[in-house]
Amino acid sequence: MGETGLTSGDFTERDEPFRLFGEWLADATAHEPNDPNAVALATVDEDGLPNVRMVLLKGFDAAGFVFYTNFESAKGREILGQRKAAMCFHWKSLRRQVRLRGPVEIVADSEADAYFASRPRGSRIGAWASKQSRPLEGRFALERAVAEYTARHAIGEIPRPPYWSGFRIVPETIEFWHDRPFRLHDRMVFSRGDGGGWNKTRLFP
Ligand SMILES: Cc1cc2nc3c(=O)[nH]c(=O)nc-3n(C[C@H](O)[C@H](O)[C@H](O)COP(=O)(O)O)c2cc1C
Repeated sequence: MGETGLTSGDFTERDEPFRLFGEWLADATAHEPNDPNAVALATVDEDGLPNVRMVLLKGFDAAGFVFYTNFESAKGREILGQRKAAMCFHWKSLRRQVRLRGPVEIVADSEADAYFASRPRGSRIGAWASKQSRPLEGRFALERAVAEYTARHAIGEIPRPPYWSGFRIVPETIEFWHDRPFRLHDRMVFSRGDGGGWNKTRLFP
């Protein structure tokens, strides 16, 4: 786990897009002013209307791309309803983009527990105090909730809230985009093949 608190796996030859993503993320970690793991997460609601917001990538390996959130938030409900999502990374300092999309799994309880336990105490209290995406009558109501949960968990471990966990996007496609002069950008898309390997295609920019 580095400064982003992000975990990643070891990759074999079959995992080329994940390995390449790891290299680009390492470059971004070296060059971006902050949050190299920040990513736009797109979901769809029950009417098919898209929705997008930023999250922090907290793990990736050949199984997929993991982030954590409140499952009762708008994104949580949208993913639990549709079971699919997309992500788009943009690293301005590198002029690079990575897009991926696919079905979504819920991470194992043990994995979510381990990540939750690694978070600062204040963030763990915050996960209990924030009814994410629901109306808040004023800042004071949030501060009161934080004080309440701080008192309730004054001693001992803070358990993971039952509504807070991680989602893993299992990409069917991953596209890498790199800025080139005169807008003749490099685009390479990896699509999952039948045998579990990846097909690689260059696209017009
Ligand atoms: C850089 C950045 C990182 C964020 N990371 C997360 C995250 O990892 N998980 C999360 O639930 N919200 C995160 N947020 C807040 C979300 O963008 C969003 O405001 C919140 O999750 C509610 O979204 P929703 O109503 O669509 O569910 C982040 C915001 C920013 C700007």
